[in-house]
Amino acid sequence: MPFKVDEIREISNKYEIPLIEDAAEALGSTYKGQSCGTFGDFAILSFNGNKIITTSGGGALVCKSTSHKEKAIFLSTQARDAAPHYQHSEIGYNYRLSNICAGIGRGQMEVLDERVRLRRGMHDFYTELFQNKEGVDVFSEASAEFHSNHWLSCILINSKKAGFSSEELRLALEAENIESRPLWKPMHKQPVFQDAPYYGRKIAEELFDNGLCLPSGSNLEDAEKERIMSVVTQFL
Ligand SMILES: Cc1ncc(COP(=O)(O)O)c(C=O)c1O
Repeated sequence: MPFKVDEIREISNKYEIPLIEDAAEALGSTYKGQSCGTFGDFAILSFNGNKIITTSGGGALVCKSTSHKEKAIFLSTQARDAAPHYQHSEIGYNYRLSNICAGIGRGQMEVLDERVRLRRGMHDFYTELFQNKEGVDVFSEASAEFHSNHWLSCILINSKKAGFSSEELRLALEAENIESRPLWKPMHKQPVFQDAPYYGRKIAEELFDNGLCLPSGSNLEDAEKERIMSVVTQFL
């Protein structure tokens, strides 16, 4: 889902904070007709195995100038000085995408539009499935300016209004061997960061407690969708 690009850009300009766009999931999404991954001073796209298109692993860095591009390539290819031997005046990394993965990625770009169409179809499927159910919101675009690839279809459940919790629905699906998952556990709730300071309100926690990611793959067959529909309908 595209972020509130104009509002974030305004803050970034006002305080002179570079805008780094995490568009890992957002390839094929647009805001006011412009592609996600092109708004930041830098942006990243993920081609991990679970993304809308994949190179099995890896991703891309998008930037706005040749000098930034050259610096990123330098740092991601071990920061070698211009010398016949291996010499390093800066610390570099081995973050390059292999040529084999890049080749797969170029082929995958050709199926992007079709994948977006299918993922958006999954969103429509859940919108229809839950349309008459009070207390269940399917994450949707805020206005016509936002165009989401709907890589993942998620719902938010108000258990008081709905009469059930996200965990109860998750367990009902699991009992039929249909995988769903809570939304992401916030960083400050991760055991590894339990001693770290935390700033903020409870929004991320509420999303984690009440949200559910539903089967969203672009390869779901009609029979699989019918099974999801039947299990959810029975549960409701
Ligand atoms: C929003 C977001 N940022 C970053 C990442 C990390 O991407 P990668 O798995 O390619 O390192 C992911 C992927 O899971 C993601 O969904």
